[in-house]
Amino acid sequence: MSSIKVRKICCIGAGYVGGPTMSVIADKCPEIEVKVVDINKERITAWNDTDLNKLPIFEPGLDQIISRTRGRNLFFSSEMEKAISDSDMIFISVNTPTKTKGLGAGQASDLSWVEASARQVAKFAKGHTIVIEKSTLPVRTAQAIKEILNTTNRENQKNEISKTFSVLSNPEFLAEGTAISDLENPDRVLIGGEDPIAINALVNIYLNWVSREKIICTNLWSSELSKLAANAFLAQRISSINSISAFCEATGADIQEVAKAIGTDKRIGNQFLCAGPGFGGSCFKKDILNLVYLSGYFGLPEVANYWNQVVLLNTWQQDRIYKIVLEKLFGTVNGKNIAILGFAFKANTNDTRESPAIRIASDLLEEGALLSIYDPKVSFERVQEDFEEFSFDNQGIWKMANSIPDALKEVDAVLILTDWEEFFGLDWNYLASLMRVPAWIFDTRSVVNRQEIENTGLNLWKLGERS
Ligand code: NAD
Ligand code: UGA
Repeated sequence: MSSIKVRKICCIGAGYVGGPTMSVIADKCPEIEVKVVDINKERITAWNDTDLNKLPIFEPGLDQIISRTRGRNLFFSSEMEKAISDSDMIFISVNTPTKTKGLGAGQASDLSWVEASARQVAKFAKGHTIVIEKSTLPVRTAQAIKEILNTTNRENQKNEISKTFSVLSNPEFLAEGTAISDLENPDRVLIGGEDPIAINALVNIYLNWVSREKIICTNLWSSELSKLAANAFLAQRISSINSISAFCEATGADIQEVAKAIGTDKRIGNQFLCAGPGFGGSCFKKDILNLVYLSGYFGLPEVANYWNQVVLLNTWQQDRIYKIVLEKLFGTVNGKNIAILGFAFKANTNDTRESPAIRIASDLLEEGALLSIYDPKVSFERVQEDFEEFSFDNQGIWKMANSIPDALKEVDAVLILTDWEEFFGLDWNYLASLMRVPAWIFDTRSVVNRQEIENTGLNLWKLGERS
């Protein structure tokens, strides 16, 4: 079998996936030149900032990789045409949000950005190019990409411009907050495709740091579906444990004990069993909704209903938490001061997309609460945009606090929504002295230790424990 030696890679999309993924490829393959391009010029400027604290995304370990690769064999640029035409291999890593309008609105993925990327590739590529779906896509999207590339190609052929393409699927499984370690030591790398030479070229790139047994090759459709199915299974686990958390509160069982007891069964496993305020992040909800849409499209309504329930339970968990806060504070939060600790959808990221904090905080604001929000990595502007996007009739007022004590001054309650390391082991005796009396702690992430709270005079509600 002949082989292709990849010398230049382009990645379209410099986001949470494109940025870290290409940084790691550049780090592990110093002989390959990697260019990451984006239509968002501000984002590219931030990726090129000499102050590594200003990178557009926060991921532990990313700054060190950027400092050794940027300018060596890793480049961030807005010059799409040149980057595409120079490359042997192009990753499409653009956003695929849920459609907001038209057929399938609220469920199907909006593929506008993927289609635009494919058209750019068709227009600017030269010679033979391997095109890789890195974005998470509905099953059979590769067919559409091939058609776009080949139709444009026929036009090129009329003008005697010769170019050819191979399309592969290579979904990304990194989780935010642990992206670098996930990329450096993945559980598996999945490659779907039909062209053995293209598959081999991509396998050879990963072989620079991933062992052969971890590289799974499948057909295109299995690869596309496996990504959606993996996210659906993970999200389902969270909805399952969250449903049991409500059961624990009703019965006196303890969610930590239950999670440990069931997780020791090897068939169930102990990972991903932390009950919380519901899953957030840009992907779980969108990918399950996409699966629901596709199930309906392929005439499988029972399958659609089954997966839809995972999303419904997630929303219910968020609503339930807001209602508990309301109930414990005598049925009203109007004019009451409430501190929110954690706005990111999980620890170790500055990402707030679909964060449970948005819905819960919005509901409290709608009831007239006065919120002071503290998150070590989320900016005022980010929170403001999130509240603007989430439609609600805002009666309350919110501000960002600079520190935990600043957030807790004179509050009637504190609501812990993200499990940032710095929220563990706090001096609650001291913090209680800053708060009003009586005051509540609502802990949705099992951050607080019940014994530590006992002599502070604070009331404690913990998710998954009877109070
Ligand atoms: P993102 O929104 O952070 O980044 C996407 C980037 O693509 C944006 O900067 C946007 O400006 C750019 N873009 C869009 N259209 C473009 C075009 N035509 N040309 C150039 N640039 C363009 O999104 P993300 O979180 O990186 O996710 C990207 C894809 O990866 C999605 O399909 C997502 O489902 C999937 N994914 C995300 C994660 C995650 O943890 N965020 C993990 C695995 C897979
Ligand atoms: C998730 C998957 O874990 C990745 O494999 C996948 O690549 C990615 O989605 C994607 O396709 O975007 P991510 O959303 O970044 O990654 O983070 P997770 O660690 O999966 O957490 C998702 C949400 O579930 C967070 O809100 C988190 O707090 C919550 N969660 C997670 C729990 O409530 N309990 C748990 O036990 C685990």
